[in-house]
Amino acid sequence: MADRLPTIWEGAAHTFAKHQILETYLKAWTAIMCSQSSRLGISGAQLLFVDGFAGPGRYGGGQDGSPILAIKSILSHSHDLKVPIRFLFIEIDKERHAILRDAIKPYEEQAARSGRISSIRLKQGDCETVLNKMLDDLEKEKRKVGPALFFLDQSGYSDVSMELIRRIMSQPLCEVFFYLNWDHMNRFLVDQTKWPSLSMTFGGDDWRPVLSLEMTERPTFILQTYRTALKQKASIKYVWHFVMCDSNGKLLYWLFFCTNSLRGLEEMKKAMWRVDPTGGFRFSDKNNPSQLSLFENYTDNMLIEDLFTSLRGRKMTVAHVKEFVLTETPAYLYKNALNILEKQNKLTVPNPPAGRRKGTFPDEYVHEMCLQFLS
Ligand SMILES: C[S@@+](CC[C@H](N)C(=O)[O-])C[C@H]1O[C@@H](n2cnc3c(N)ncnc32)[C@H](O)[C@@H]1O
Repeated sequence: MADRLPTIWEGAAHTFAKHQILETYLKAWTAIMCSQSSRLGISGAQLLFVDGFAGPGRYGGGQDGSPILAIKSILSHSHDLKVPIRFLFIEIDKERHAILRDAIKPYEEQAARSGRISSIRLKQGDCETVLNKMLDDLEKEKRKVGPALFFLDQSGYSDVSMELIRRIMSQPLCEVFFYLNWDHMNRFLVDQTKWPSLSMTFGGDDWRPVLSLEMTERPTFILQTYRTALKQKASIKYVWHFVMCDSNGKLLYWLFFCTNSLRGLEEMKKAMWRVDPTGGFRFSDKNNPSQLSLFENYTDNMLIEDLFTSLRGRKMTVAHVKEFVLTETPAYLYKNALNILEKQNKLTVPNPPAGRRKGTFPDEYVHEMCLQFLS
């Protein structure tokens, strides 16, 4: 969807919060994928990062746009990255594409010398068309696209179809981090000419009941319906979202993260917690220390309460408890809560590994060690 912004525009606080999440996650993802590929001895392996709505590469205030941020993240990575990464940047606007080309030039030589970046490709065109063609070509050649991270930072809500997300996520080791603009969607709901594109976004007509809802009920309905569509229609195992608001706290858009890897979910939640340390998965342009106190912090005590309420009477491995924490609660850390629950005699470890100290849940035993939550 064409936007009404100048070729280079000023970034808002939420833009840079989004960049912080992207940068933190990209660094974690490359480190994990490199060590996995080396451990599995996959020769010739490469990672792929796609920025499907790349923009001009910089903002009015001189800040880096996402493609430059991604290149710099890899070049400055503190790990010894043994598996090179390919970059594909897609931008539809001719002028922004040209500016991005110039913005990338100063990094090309350094990228080649570093051995960390195997190629930087820049395409002018429509993201969905370019990616579908790429997926078609790979399918014909019976080649896999992953390990790959797709950042699909559209400005609106209708340029990333459910079908594209399904296609990407049906490939092994692929993840999608993308943007869905509630504010625009809400504004255009009355316009019947926009309905077909909404159905592409949702992969069907399940969004339609929103039309008969009160204004206040609409965002929750759309969020839940869209999350369900991602899980059911695109067959995604784990979906997490982050809320972006303007300076008045009004909902602007959601960032969605889609992965089939629990480790991926853990790292993304960590990256999101860094931007919103309350565990609310929400950022407002007004965010400042005094405003943070308006949101309730998700504390260890709340996690203890959630674990005990949901799991009382059940026996399960530590790995299953960890999955519960990552998928059903805002937390990603869980060992302190388990330690406290054990001290309070609300959980026991029926067959602990030899030499285990009470209150400890070593990573090497997460799949074997069972926990009994008392009723
Ligand atoms: C939100 S901006 C991206 C900002 C950039 N990702 C960043 O964080 O610095 C969206 C960009 O996508 C471009 N765009 C819009 N529709 C597109 C499409 N269908 N395919 C590719 N790019 C598109 C716009 O020209 C705009 O530059």
